[in-house]
Amino acid sequence: MTSLHHRRHFLRFLAGSPFLARAFAQDSDPGSNLGQNAGKPTTPHDVLDVREFETLAHEALPPAHWGYLASGVDDDYTLEANIGAFKHIGLRPKRLSGVAKADTSVELFGTRYASPIYLSAVGAQRMFHPDGELATARAAKIKQAVQMLSTVTSIPVEGVAGALGAAPWFQLYMPAEWPETEALVRRVEAAGCTVLAWTVDILPGRNIETATRLARTDTRSCPACHTNQKMPMTQGRSNPPEANWTYVDKLKKMTRMKVILKGLDTREDARLAVEHGADGIVVSNHGGRSTETLRPTIECLSEVMDGVRGRIPVFVDGGFRRGSDVYKALALGAKAVGIGRPYIYGLSAFGQAGVERVLDIMNIELALTMRQCGAASIASIDRASVTLAAR
Ligand SMILES: Cc1cc2nc3c(=O)[nH]c(=O)nc-3n(C[C@H](O)[C@H](O)[C@H](O)COP(=O)(O)O)c2cc1C
Repeated sequence: MTSLHHRRHFLRFLAGSPFLARAFAQDSDPGSNLGQNAGKPTTPHDVLDVREFETLAHEALPPAHWGYLASGVDDDYTLEANIGAFKHIGLRPKRLSGVAKADTSVELFGTRYASPIYLSAVGAQRMFHPDGELATARAAKIKQAVQMLSTVTSIPVEGVAGALGAAPWFQLYMPAEWPETEALVRRVEAAGCTVLAWTVDILPGRNIETATRLARTDTRSCPACHTNQKMPMTQGRSNPPEANWTYVDKLKKMTRMKVILKGLDTREDARLAVEHGADGIVVSNHGGRSTETLRPTIECLSEVMDGVRGRIPVFVDGGFRRGSDVYKALALGAKAVGIGRPYIYGLSAFGQAGVERVLDIMNIELALTMRQCGAASIASIDRASVTLAAR
């Protein structure tokens, strides 16, 4: 067990302490409901932070599904690096700033949302809860959050759009054959999607070793559920092996949707994305699920901002577990921040209500940090309010 794991267990122990919960409640936003009902959580409202949902999800899921959710690739270093990196970024608070209320709302591609925190693509969500992507959509609707729907969704885009009350952003895994890509893109466009996020970080394949090991400990018969199971949006092989930047041009020509590239981490790729007409970039390493020993995404953000030079919006995901993490990304220039595992932990533990609670907790923490740093709105978050510590 690594020292990071030891620390997590210690923190979870502390999080369960009624004494600590009371102390936190006194310091928290008077309008918030954090800090109430401390002890073993039996409802979403008992949960104090998103890492507590992780423990509950672990208890709720069979080993193979837990392994698929929680693991990264190889030795899981990128996964842990994403989460650990935030402690190397310090905040510079602004005292007596007079900010009594923080407005977390943002406009993304012409639509206003309550928060810059969005629900990133996670495939096959019925693996985690019987209501799957529908529960996520209902939570996103209530919380006015962006939902990015995976190509490997367990529920068709049309059904999810119905539950969300608007079409979700659609995450594309490109089918191996171009005519299938065209058919898929036309279908999601017809469903009303306005944003297409092409994920480019696992095209060469990956080694999901921890997930495989955990699946071997599962005593259930996997083929009993998985045989003959078809995903509703895609049937065939994924990822054209020859895919390159001309595919971005082809996608742009084919659709009116905003085309954003999910999974870029460097200045050079950011420049190429702009040159090829991408409408946005998601700085992402698939939550540590693509390539081992990558730099944490929060540390790639400034470099990508530099490559983009304000021409298109930059989003980021990977390892965000606190509102203060989100604040740091916004201060470094991100337009919005995606979460993956946190809301799936909430979904696994409590369905729709769990997803809602995860969004509430992170949004309350974000608003609190904004007030601490003197930001009344997302636009007024100051780059000078964060500082990178020497490692
Ligand atoms: C179980 C799981 C499934 C995922 N499925 C997809 C997917 O289908 N498409 C995709 O682009 N990203 C997928 N991702 C990556 C997320 O969109 C996101 O980049 C990542 O989870 C962010 O890191 P975080 O989990 O630390 O928040 C998945 C992540 C997880 C944990």
